[in-house]
Amino acid sequence: MCHIFSCEILTIFPRMVEPYLEESILGKAQKKGLFNCRVLNIRDYAPGKHRVTDDIPYGGGAGMLMKPEPLFRAVDDLRKDGVPRRIIMPTPQGKRFDQHMAEDLAGEAKTLTFICGRYEGIDERVSLSLVDEEISIGDYVLTGGELAALVIIDAAVRLVPGVVGDERSTELDSFSWGVLDYPHYTRPPVYRGLAVPEVLMSGDHRSIKRWRRKEALRRTLLRRPELLFIETAGLSTEDITMIEEIKKEEKI
Ligand code: ADE
Repeated sequence: MCHIFSCEILTIFPRMVEPYLEESILGKAQKKGLFNCRVLNIRDYAPGKHRVTDDIPYGGGAGMLMKPEPLFRAVDDLRKDGVPRRIIMPTPQGKRFDQHMAEDLAGEAKTLTFICGRYEGIDERVSLSLVDEEISIGDYVLTGGELAALVIIDAAVRLVPGVVGDERSTELDSFSWGVLDYPHYTRPPVYRGLAVPEVLMSGDHRSIKRWRRKEALRRTLLRRPELLFIETAGLSTEDITMIEEIKKEEKI
């Protein structure tokens, strides 16, 4: 049986996320039945005629907070189906998202339920007793959790077998995780005076493989040297030789 990656997004702005989920690879994955994502409007769970979802903070201070009741009610309602869920809240205070976390989520059998905050934040009781984990997509502050939820879902869905057309592209990712991707070229061979590296047109697969690995290592050394010292970079003795060559070439 095929693994289905299932998720839910709780937001007060469903229209911010719906179009993204329907286009391109995510849209195709949904049509193929490999992925599904329900989008729920938090406002539908807010009590009262005005369906208020925010309120002022106790203790004072600027901005509004998301009230706990609509979120607890929404999750209570979802849970009626008995489906196991992993409840995720994107926030800048969370654990920093990376490829390992994407792999972990892609293999998750539970439904991933994303609670998207807006305003200045969410009442802490949501995090204390509803949420299983908080995830940050980077050290900057967005206006809400919607984009972060989409980033996390996008990174995980493309790792689900069958979602990305050419399986090799995701295999390559994980193989080379810890080292940046090598440069890619397509036709024409020369464009505005810029030529495609000769080796890529040589048909010599061993040389192409070596060139790609070396250029991946060069980029990593120049742009993200810290990545080379983590275990997952998986450097071979040939890599170490290439790194020494690159250091000489780049005079570093
Ligand atoms: N919400 C606002 N900023 C965020 C961030 N950097 N990561 C995850 N969720 C967020």
